[in-house]
Amino acid sequence: MELDPDKPHSARIYDHMLGGHDNFPADRAAAAAVTAHWPHLGVSMRANRDWMARQARFAAAELGIRQFLDVGSGLPTAPNMHEVVQGVHPACRVLYVDNDPLVLDRGRSVTGATYLDADLHDPEAILASPEFRDTIDLTRPVALSLIAVLQFVTDEDEASSIVDRLLAPLPAGSTLSISSVTDETAPAEVAAGVAVYAAGGIGIRVRDRDEVTALFRGLPLLDPGVVLVNRWRPEKEVPDAHVQMYGGVARKTA
Ligand SMILES: C[S@@+](CC[C@H](N)C(=O)[O-])C[C@H]1O[C@@H](n2cnc3c(N)ncnc32)[C@H](O)[C@@H]1O
Repeated sequence: MELDPDKPHSARIYDHMLGGHDNFPADRAAAAAVTAHWPHLGVSMRANRDWMARQARFAAAELGIRQFLDVGSGLPTAPNMHEVVQGVHPACRVLYVDNDPLVLDRGRSVTGATYLDADLHDPEAILASPEFRDTIDLTRPVALSLIAVLQFVTDEDEASSIVDRLLAPLPAGSTLSISSVTDETAPAEVAAGVAVYAAGGIGIRVRDRDEVTALFRGLPLLDPGVVLVNRWRPEKEVPDAHVQMYGGVARKTA
């Protein structure tokens, strides 16, 4: 994918909303236009990022997982996943996957972690890459995360197929973490905000709780199931009305 600073991009809007500096005027203008309708977007994005860290720490500390495949990783934002899990155990390895050139460039230079340039729509390219083979040992459990990225896959059959294909080679004990945008807690705000994203060329699929649950493809969900991300093993209080992300973690049993 080419870097086009004049066109708003999901990774850079998210970066701006989280207080980062890896973004351009077009991204900041898009963020301002969206938040004019969807005022709690920043709170929701922060709740999602905090959940990313909690669920990764949980997988490393409570489940003993040492390898992480994070697809749609985003721009570096402290704490990054590898910092969280290596804080639990230094042997933890993370393979980040993204298709945005700025994410890849900043990710590699700022974190020194391994970033694979690949498109979520082509899971086989991820699984066949040298980076995957060098980082991931398929005889041991893997934590696969698709965090705040499946909302950009607007076709439901394709989203399910992507999840199935990424999960297929992972051994029993592997986990699947997903968060995705919902409008259930703020329908009018999200509808207006998503329309602004669409006008900027970014399609977003809004899902209800059942639709997010269906993305787990029937795998058993770990407690507390699919919930607003602020409610997943929370460490601080965030009002539900300010959060428009459902998330959960499931575990492969066979
Ligand atoms: C909203 S950010 C989420 C970042 C991080 N996962 C988090 O939740 O904190 C979405 C990321 O997904 C990436 N992304 C979107 N579509 C993608 C695709 N088809 N293939 C790979 N990455 C994609 C974007 O470039 C962006 O970095």
